[in-house]
Amino acid sequence: PGLAVEVVDEIDSTSSELMRRARDGRTQPVLLVAKRQTAGRGRMGRAWQSSQAEQEPASLTFSLGLPLMPRDWSGLSLAVGVSVAESLDAPNMAKVALKWPNDLWVEERKLGGILIETALPQDGSAERYLVIGIGINIGAPEGTGMSTPPAWIAQWRPEATAPQLLREIVPPLVSHVLLFGDRGFVPFAERFARRDLLRGREVQLSDGTLGHCEGVGWGGELLVRTASGMKNITSAEVSVRPR
Ligand code: BTN
Repeated sequence: PGLAVEVVDEIDSTSSELMRRARDGRTQPVLLVAKRQTAGRGRMGRAWQSSQAEQEPASLTFSLGLPLMPRDWSGLSLAVGVSVAESLDAPNMAKVALKWPNDLWVEERKLGGILIETALPQDGSAERYLVIGIGINIGAPEGTGMSTPPAWIAQWRPEATAPQLLREIVPPLVSHVLLFGDRGFVPFAERFARRDLLRGREVQLSDGTLGHCEGVGWGGELLVRTASGMKNITSAEVSVRPR
């Protein structure tokens, strides 16, 4: 209902902009799309690189801002991943996989990422302003210095454009976020499991602990069997990478 859509040519970061607006008390539902970001942000203080291509945006970068009642949002990035992956699946493309907690992968390469932030309201209302930032590679990214070469949409769908992808991704995404607001991660758990990149793999936690990933629990926490027993890892605690 009443989602304003704004498209800008260039901005530092669509998520930074919506967080700034929230601090100024502007917490309307909005979709902010940027053709170029000059300071895109990823999780854990990392940068999100976009190509400098002048013509076609090489990545789809947007943030969805929604005022919602507070709840436990851990698991939301997984639900958002499920929604985007289901929208992106194409017949001639390997199934889009999800790397806990927030990455979209195709054939062992990263296709995109999700960054979720919340702002407290300035007016004392109970709602929180949720800023869901999504970046997806459309064209070949240029030398990004990533440890593994990325994947990009044009490899499977050379004709895909940013507006078309947005039309496919955003309407189901809004419904899925509202569903998460009502029922949490439970309706997404099985759908995540079907795309879980880490399940069944040996993983290393950011504190160095090694373990075997057993998938995710009903709250979206990562389940890792380690030498000292099962660990339930919540989104905020650690990063995980295949060994
Ligand atoms: C990650 O891979 O760690 C998450 C990347 C999220 C990037 C998107 S692009 C749109 C929005 N604005 C940002 O600055 N970041 C997110």
